[in-house]
Amino acid sequence: MQAKQRVDRIAPSILAADMSALGDELARIEAGGADWVHVDVMDGRFVPNISLGIPVVASLRGRTRMPLDVHLMIVEPERYVEAFVAAGADILTVQAEASRHLYRTLASIRDAGARAGVSLNPATPLLCIEHVLELVDLVLVMTVEPGFGGQAFIPAMLPKIEALAGMLEDHKAVDIQVDGGINTESIGLAARAGANVFVAGTSVFGVGNPIEGLRQLREALARVRSGPP
Ligand code: DX5
Ligand code: ZN
Repeated sequence: MQAKQRVDRIAPSILAADMSALGDELARIEAGGADWVHVDVMDGRFVPNISLGIPVVASLRGRTRMPLDVHLMIVEPERYVEAFVAAGADILTVQAEASRHLYRTLASIRDAGARAGVSLNPATPLLCIEHVLELVDLVLVMTVEPGFGGQAFIPAMLPKIEALAGMLEDHKAVDIQVDGGINTESIGLAARAGANVFVAGTSVFGVGNPIEGLRQLREALARVRSGPP
């Protein structure tokens, strides 16, 4: 049965965490009420940056029960689906632009036992995922060009989020995620547009205290949810 309503979730991105103390950072966001842990995997080819990979996902899995939301910004992600799921990814998201046979790749994520996500770069139209809606559990609208934390939210993505919410009218179980430049202002804009999963790196780990960062984001979200539609 499909869920009637999407549930709000905040997913801190560990890209902005202290990589030498990931266990402690996990404990902090867990204490702060994080819903998911967002793990950005970059290969230096799909994006001009290199971050972390399979062994780190496995280590994180050993340290937390929070769902691991793994975002693959890599070329040919189909080659690594099984390895990331075996390492402990609960949600595995691939970039639509990076996989030549997207339908097959998404099916393979579910076959491997994870929830399947598809992500769209700012320039990629929603049309590219029309044929895979039955196969996805999450659609990620990138609100910056992928590759780096700390960039500014692109407001032109708001109508895209709205259009996606319309497109998913009959797919209410599919989460709508936003990633990039999410702070106490943009979280409200994205929520109003229809997003329900909010990735946040700098605004959680870059403010001195992740617990306080999370509290502020939740408060900003609550203001929008309790206000006029
Ligand atoms: C960008 C990554 C993001 C990034 C977000 O390529 O996919 O998840 O960590 O970082 P902030 O919240 O700092 O924009
Ligand atoms: Zn990400």
